[in-house]
Amino acid sequence: MTATTIAIAQQKGGAGKTTIAAQLAVAWMRQGYRVALLDVDPQGSLSAWYGMRRRNGVADDLVSQDVQGWKLSTEIDRLKAAYDILIVDTPPHAETDARVAVRAAGLILMPVQPSPMDLWASAPTLEMARKERTPALLVLNRVPARNRLTDTIRARIAEDDLPLADSMVGNRSGFAASMMDGKGVVETAPRSTAALEIIALADEIAGRLSLSPGRSAS
Ligand SMILES: Nc1ncnc2c1ncn2[C@@H]1O[C@H](COP(=O)(O)OP(=O)(O)OP(=O)(O)O)[C@@H](O)[C@H]1O
Ligand SMILES: [Mg+2]
Repeated sequence: MTATTIAIAQQKGGAGKTTIAAQLAVAWMRQGYRVALLDVDPQGSLSAWYGMRRRNGVADDLVSQDVQGWKLSTEIDRLKAAYDILIVDTPPHAETDARVAVRAAGLILMPVQPSPMDLWASAPTLEMARKERTPALLVLNRVPARNRLTDTIRARIAEDDLPLADSMVGNRSGFAASMMDGKGVVETAPRSTAALEIIALADEIAGRLSLSPGRSAS
């Protein structure tokens, strides 16, 4: 068993890395994947979410570790050996640890808010992905309802020939609300638009990476 590793990376702070990491982890786990999370960010937000999940008594097989520095590569290898999907949440800087995660990953998922500043700020992470020869996938996050700017940004991303997920994640309070309890929106509001968006993103990525529960690709 070798997990497919997905590094969530984006130099721009607050793009939604930790939110997407936790929400995807829960969505995939509920589809039957064995999922591990690795929090490489010293801020520890993902670990705080996971701690809340355990304190609230949620019983499942989801594991989460936080590791930085010289132990990181070993920890990635250890988790890869035992899970279907390993999701690595990286810090908002092009630091050494983010690079290690990007190098080990089969895919770099890059949340981008639909604004020019966020798009411009993606360049260093895309460059890191290119250097490490890891495919990147942008996903528009916090997309506001009915906003022409989103279409403009999508068009610009297409013009620049950057890989963009078909799925978009809206600006929805349900994401933070679910995380408050250490949960994912697919657990707290399974029929909500937020949940459907995360499931669509999870399915799209699984399709792109040819994943299916109990079987891993890379
Ligand atoms: N789709 C969304 N809808 C609404 N709020 C969101 C969404 N995605 C993220 N947020 C909110 O945006 C803020 C930043 O999100 P998050 O912490 O996930 O970003 P990050 O990229 O991990 O940040 P950092 O760079 O500091 O690690 C949080 O308050 C989170 O609740
Ligand atoms: Mg974060």
